[in-house]
Amino acid sequence: MTVENTRVALVTGASRGIGALIARTLAERGWDLTVSARQPEALQGFAEALAGDTGRRIVAVPADMSDEAAVHRLAREHVDAFGRLDALVLNAGMGAIGPFADFPLRRLDKLFAVNVRSAYQLVQQLLPTLRATGQVSPRGARVIAMASMTGISAEPLNSAYGATKAALISLCETLTVEEYTHGVSGVAVCPGYVATDMTSALADKIAPAEMITAGDVADQTVAMTDLARTVVIPRLLLTRPGPNLWHA
Ligand SMILES: NC(=O)c1ccc[n+]([C@@H]2O[C@H](COP(=O)([O-])OP(=O)(O)OC[C@H]3O[C@@H](n4cnc5c(N)ncnc54)[C@H](OP(=O)(O)O)[C@@H]3O)[C@@H](O)[C@H]2O)c1
Repeated sequence: MTVENTRVALVTGASRGIGALIARTLAERGWDLTVSARQPEALQGFAEALAGDTGRRIVAVPADMSDEAAVHRLAREHVDAFGRLDALVLNAGMGAIGPFADFPLRRLDKLFAVNVRSAYQLVQQLLPTLRATGQVSPRGARVIAMASMTGISAEPLNSAYGATKAALISLCETLTVEEYTHGVSGVAVCPGYVATDMTSALADKIAPAEMITAGDVADQTVAMTDLARTVVIPRLLLTRPGPNLWHA
């Protein structure tokens, strides 16, 4: 069991990119964590390094977000390990672009499974734990979903990916209006292009140095957990200055 005042998070997609920096920032602030991603070796290595650097308890649970049984196991192992959840960070996601006209339906299904269905399932399964934490913590319990600017503003070739991110924004807002009496609220983080592996293929069009840094996204995401339970920021937009203000 966790010490009473130690806050606890579950972070998906935590082995690299934005998720890894969110996990590191939380652990450096004294949080204990469950971290998850598909590749077990990379995840275990990350968890051990983070535990060594911070002295925090870091539990690694590999899970593919497109596998319902694996997502179920992830939630159960988190509850068994900690019995508490102050922040559920729904960060794991996949990207895929293509013209609306002939975007393959199988790829649409995969995007929704990884980006949306797993998020919905994790919230449902972990809601009793979120409520129990939200009722006793002055900061409540937060569901923080890594959405995207493409969920707010249309971007060519992003009909499917953008729709998954719009769904996450809606999911977070509905959660807040339904669950606030239990101290549970949602925030959808909506960044434009962030310099990570996911955007490395765009490097010839947008220099990584022109993109948002993963560190800025992680810092602002973690700042959501500082708010009192009576405050919610439903959408956190991070975008690039200049003509791309309302674009990814
Ligand atoms: N980069 C951007 O420009 C940008 C902008 C807006 C929003 N976002 C969103 O931010 C989130 C993180 O993106 P990122 O740029 O940090 O990506 P990234 O660097 O590619 O990292 C993705 C992370 O998610 C894990 N992951 C990928 N597919 C998974 C699956 N099916 N099941 C479980 N874990 C999976 C990866 O580990 P494994 O490969 O081992 O599973 C890795 O830990 C995503 O939801 C993305 O849509 C990114």
